[in-house]
Amino acid sequence: MATIGIAFGNSTTSFATIKDGKVDVIANPDGERFISSALSYVDGDEYHGQQALSQIVRNPRNTIVNFRDFIGVPFTDIDARYSKLAAHPVELNGKVAYEINGNKLSIDEVVKRHLKQIKNAAEDYLGQSIESTVITVPTNFSDVQKQDIVRIAGEAGLKVSQLINEPTAALLAHLSNKDLLKEDKIYVVADFGGIRSDAAVIAVRGGIMTLLATEHSTTLGGAELDDALIDFFAADFQKKFKADAKKTEKSLAKLVAASIITKKTLSNVQTASVSVDSLAEGFDYMSSINRLRFELVGRKVFSEMIEFIESLIKKAGLENLDIDAVLLVGGTSNIPKVASTLSLIFPESTEIHAPAIDSKLPNPNELNCRGAAIQASLIAGFDDEEIQESLQPVVVNTEHISAPIGIKDTDGHFLTILPRETAYPIKKTISFTSNSNNVEIEFYEGKRNVKETVVEPEQFSDDEEDSEEEEPEIVREVEYVPGTLLAKMVLNGVGAGKPVDVIVQIDREGKMHLTGRSGDVIVKGEVSQA
Ligand SMILES: Nc1ncnc2c1ncn2[C@@H]1O[C@H](COP(=O)(O)OP(=O)(O)OP(=O)(O)O)[C@@H](O)[C@H]1O
Ligand SMILES: [Mg+2]
Repeated sequence: MATIGIAFGNSTTSFATIKDGKVDVIANPDGERFISSALSYVDGDEYHGQQALSQIVRNPRNTIVNFRDFIGVPFTDIDARYSKLAAHPVELNGKVAYEINGNKLSIDEVVKRHLKQIKNAAEDYLGQSIESTVITVPTNFSDVQKQDIVRIAGEAGLKVSQLINEPTAALLAHLSNKDLLKEDKIYVVADFGGIRSDAAVIAVRGGIMTLLATEHSTTLGGAELDDALIDFFAADFQKKFKADAKKTEKSLAKLVAASIITKKTLSNVQTASVSVDSLAEGFDYMSSINRLRFELVGRKVFSEMIEFIESLIKKAGLENLDIDAVLLVGGTSNIPKVASTLSLIFPESTEIHAPAIDSKLPNPNELNCRGAAIQASLIAGFDDEEIQESLQPVVVNTEHISAPIGIKDTDGHFLTILPRETAYPIKKTISFTSNSNNVEIEFYEGKRNVKETVVEPEQFSDDEEDSEEEEPEIVREVEYVPGTLLAKMVLNGVGAGKPVDVIVQIDREGKMHLTGRSGDVIVKGEVSQA
C-alpha cells in the first residue's frame, strides 16, 4: 500500500510518491508527468490527459477542460471563459455539468472520472494499491469546495487523509529538497499557472510556516501569454495571406495548440518555429519567433505579474526589501522572463528560486505535488485525530508576533531572539559570555529601519567601456534597532567571563515569559503582549 500526493490544477495534474526517501514524480502510461486535466469522449471511449486535449480541434464539444475551479461552485457564479473552445458548462441542479453525447455529466462526475484516471495511472506505475492521498487546493478554496473534493476523491477510490494548500506544499517541497526548513526566512511563493495565478507570503520560523497574506487572479496566467502570441501570429497570417486565422473555432483551436508549443519551446531555446497545416482558408502557416520578440509580445502580462506580487507584499504589510526569497511555482514560471522581471523589483539580497536562475531546481510545475507527497508520507502513520491536530511541519494561520523580540548587545545593537512573524507558542534560548560581575539585560521589540549604504563604483581608469557605470549605487537593507523596551533585568554577582542564557518564551495566550540565567543566578519576568 502506498501514499501519494496529488496536485490537481485546472490545466494539469501531477502526482508523486516517496520512494527510498526521495520524491518520485510519477508519469502516466503515456509518459506525461504534467497530465492535462482534460477528458474527451469519442465513440464511447474516454480519453484523458494530452490525448483528450488533442481532441479540442476535432471534437471540441465532447472535450472537457479547465474544470477544477468549478468544484462546489453554483452554476450562476462560474466564469466559463476558458471553456469557450471546448465543452460548454451547462446547469444541472444549480451546479455545473457538461452535455456529452446528449447526456449531462455533473461536475462531480467529471472530477471523479479524472481522479480515477489518476488513481489508475498511479497504481499502474507503483504496482500496488493506494492507501491514502494528500491533495493540494488553492488557499481561497471554500469549505464547500474542500468538502466536495474530499467526497468526490473518495468516490473515485482515493482516501484523502488531508488537503494541503498549494503554496505551503510548494514551499515544503522546496525547503525539504534544499534542507532549508531550519532557516528562518520570509518567502514569496509565486504560482503562475494556466488560467490563474496565486501567490502567498509565508514566514518560515523554526520549521513552522505561517501564511501572512495571499493574492489570487483569474485573469493572469499562461493563457494570457497564449492569447498575446495568438494575436501576434494571427496578424502575421493576415498580412501574409489576407485571411483570418481566428475566424472559425477550428482554426483558432489549431492556432492555440501551436502557440502553446511555441511558447514552451521558447523557455528552453532562443528561437522557436510554428507550423500549422491548413490553418485557415486552405493556407498552411509557417513562421518563427525569437525569445526577445515573445517577451515584447507578452510585456503587458509580465508587468501584470509584477503588480500582482507587489500588491501581495503590500497586503502582508511588508515591503519588497523584507522578502528574503521568492519561490517560483507553476508551469508559467518556466519562462525565463518571469524570473528576470521579478528579480528587478527585489534587492540583490533577495534570492529568486527559479529554474532559469538555478537549473538544478526541480520543474516549478512539480513543486505542489512534491510537497503533497512529502506531507502524505509524513502523516501516513497517524490516525485521523492526530492528523487533525498535527499539521507538522505545516502550520498555517497560527498566531504570530509582528515585531521581532530581542536584547540590546554591548554595542547597543539589536540582537534578535525571535524574528518577526514567529508563530507561538514558542521558546528560544540564546547564550553569551558576561563581561562584568553584574549583567544587565534589556529586552526590546525591534524597530524596522532601512539602512542605505552608498557603494562607490570601482574605478577602471584605463578601461573605457566601464566609463558609463560610474554612478554610485545605493543599497537599501532592512535592519532592526532596539525599539520599545519590554523589560529590564539584572543578574547580580555573576562574575565576568561566565556563560549567560537568555530565554524568551511566548505561551499559547501570547504572554511572554523572560528568563536570564547564569549558574545559580536566575531572574524571571512576564510581559503581556498587546
Ligand atoms: N516550459 C514551459 N514554458 C512556458 N509555459 C509553460 C511551460 N510548461 C507549462 N507552461 C504553461 O503553464 C501553464 C500551466 O501551468 P500549471 O500546470 O501550473 O497550471 P495549473 O495549476 O494546472 O492550472 P491553473 O493554475 O490554471 O489552475 C499553461 O499555460 C502552460 O502553457
Ligand atoms: Mg495552479
